[in-house]
Amino acid sequence: MDLNLKGKTAVVTGASQGMGRAITKELAAEGVKVLAIGRNDHLLNSLREEVVAAGGVEPVVLSQDFMAADAAEKIAAAALAGLGPVDILVNNAGRSVPLDVIGADADWDASFVLHFDRLRQLTQQFLPAMIERRQGVVINVTSTFELRTINASSVAKAAVVVWAKQLAGELGKYGIRVVNLQPGLIDTENIRPFFQGEARQQFASKEIPLGDFGETEDIANVVTFLASQRAKYITGTTVTVDGGMRYGAF
Ligand SMILES: NC(=O)c1ccc[n+]([C@@H]2O[C@H](COP(=O)([O-])OP(=O)(O)OC[C@H]3O[C@@H](n4cnc5c(N)ncnc54)[C@H](OP(=O)(O)O)[C@@H]3O)[C@@H](O)[C@H]2O)c1
Repeated sequence: MDLNLKGKTAVVTGASQGMGRAITKELAAEGVKVLAIGRNDHLLNSLREEVVAAGGVEPVVLSQDFMAADAAEKIAAAALAGLGPVDILVNNAGRSVPLDVIGADADWDASFVLHFDRLRQLTQQFLPAMIERRQGVVINVTSTFELRTINASSVAKAAVVVWAKQLAGELGKYGIRVVNLQPGLIDTENIRPFFQGEARQQFASKEIPLGDFGETEDIANVVTFLASQRAKYITGTTVTVDGGMRYGAF
């Protein structure tokens, strides 16, 4: 299937490792010029080298702490300078934030800044040009919402899902799509500490119909499809990639 992504531009947050890294590689392999953002310079530079070695479009890399108050403005400026108009925004930066039942305000606040406020602010940076050009795709990597323990990342991402639904309603008339990608458990540094040794296989054989955690490429493949015109009728919804882990049927 030709995804017709050649010549497009994309901004990917959380691109230094895990899913964002795989998403950057897959988009670049399809001919998309990516602004890849993270904090770890070494990982970002190795990502750029890997993409080029694989024959993809060389990404522009940016080391930027997403928690900084001016992060959205700085990323938007780097995108304009390095890419020109942005066709695809992948809001992926984040991490699991397990908290006690009585969580500290500072931890809750930090999670909402990282997973909701900055994501919204960054998206808003790109919307005026997307509206003017009457095209654009925003893809938010969200989270599982069936936890039985407290996780401030998942709660903040629930806010993203609701906001994305509203945004999709507003932006459809401009040809802009807004889609959430809900991962199950994907093998990354983010979650490895929680499933050490036998724990991963024990959990997976009990809770995941397909029997194991997903790979970052499983997410990257779906994001790349969603970013393409092949997904032109998908907006205002959440696409789940979890090996069947979610219990809810709807
Ligand atoms: N893996 C899973 O099973 C799973 C499940 C549900 C949801 N998710 C969500 O999926 C997304 C990707 O997670 P992942 O598993 O791929 O995690 P990961 O491998 O730990 O990668 C996280 C990425 O986010 C970036 N990041 C985190 N905090 C940042 C900050 N303050 N400023 C700038 N960049 C920051 C990291 O950059 P640096 O390392 O360079 O700092 C890294 O590139 C996250 O939003 C996560 O919540 C993952």
